[in-house]
Amino acid sequence: MKAVRINQWGQPAQIEDIDRPSPASDEVLVRVHAASINPIDVIVAAGYLQAMLTVPMTAGTDFAGEVITVGADVSHVNPGDSVYGCIALRGGTFAEYVVVKVAEVAAKPSSLDSIQAASVPLSALTAWQGLNRSLKIKAGERLLIHGVAGNVGSFAAQFARLSGVEVIGTAAAKDEAFVRSLGLNRWIDHTKTKFEEEAGEVDAVFASIGGEVIPRSFAVMKPAGRLVTTGQMAGADEAQQRGLQATGMACEASIDDLAAIARLIDAGEVKVHVTDTVPFDQFQRGFELHQDHSRGRRKVVLTL
Ligand SMILES: NC(=O)c1ccc[n+]([C@@H]2O[C@H](COP(=O)([O-])OP(=O)(O)OC[C@H]3O[C@@H](n4cnc5c(N)ncnc54)[C@H](OP(=O)(O)O)[C@@H]3O)[C@@H](O)[C@H]2O)c1
Repeated sequence: MKAVRINQWGQPAQIEDIDRPSPASDEVLVRVHAASINPIDVIVAAGYLQAMLTVPMTAGTDFAGEVITVGADVSHVNPGDSVYGCIALRGGTFAEYVVVKVAEVAAKPSSLDSIQAASVPLSALTAWQGLNRSLKIKAGERLLIHGVAGNVGSFAAQFARLSGVEVIGTAAAKDEAFVRSLGLNRWIDHTKTKFEEEAGEVDAVFASIGGEVIPRSFAVMKPAGRLVTTGQMAGADEAQQRGLQATGMACEASIDDLAAIARLIDAGEVKVHVTDTVPFDQFQRGFELHQDHSRGRRKVVLTL
């Protein structure tokens, strides 16, 4: 089968023929129909996680496709099912077939085609788990989302609004039309205005970016406020001194969370937004598009 292979860290990946994998008893073999590009795929290919991974490896995290065979211990999906999911850091979805663990795959939202479905798993699971597991967000609370135009941030905004949360988001003006479509209570152009001056007091912060916005956010958090970041944590000591809860997070595979997200999408409560579709054999162009935000947000999906 054809797969996008990383042979050396930091060197361009390339399409190669490799053996089709076989599922173990707790695994599922999926024929991949579409696979979206996430920031983690760029981070992995650049070699930043080489202490945790070994080359050669196949790139790719998200997928949508059809179940071909299931291991003896798998009962929640069957051959022929249309599925979606994302796999942990080991990569593998930028390929004609991928073997995934039982928790990494669930029925695809039936209202979405494979291209749309492949754009959902990692971004939406991260948003879902950040809100529900890390922040434990509650109706009536005020939430600040940094990076609300991004793929994680825009799912977080939609989930939070459905939970009855008041949402303030930061984004750049190039994404204004998109962020206005998310039903936010308020958005702040972070390129023109300091969010500290506009956001007011918030119960919680969901930062889909890391670094300097983390300690800056402490100024707008209520006493005992909570913050989670999907990026690099900063200011942990200061948060503790101020009595705030501030943590990083790592998205986990979850059949239940994938199913809950699919239900919201099929109910028309949550929208997905693919900007670019690129044939698998032009994956380098897909990576270039993924990183070019000059005209606004991106979600790039490779088709197989
Ligand atoms: N921990 C985990 O388990 C996990 C899981 C998934 C993703 N992540 C990480 O989460 C981050 C977001 O992922 P994503 O897929 O949502 O990426 P994305 O689609 O590129 O979204 C990031 C967004 O943040 C915006 N942004 C950058 N700096 C900003 C600032 N100072 N203020 C407000 N917005 C700002 C970007 O705007 P521009 O277009 O203007 O740059 C972009 O819209 C990535 O770092 C990714 O690696 C972590």
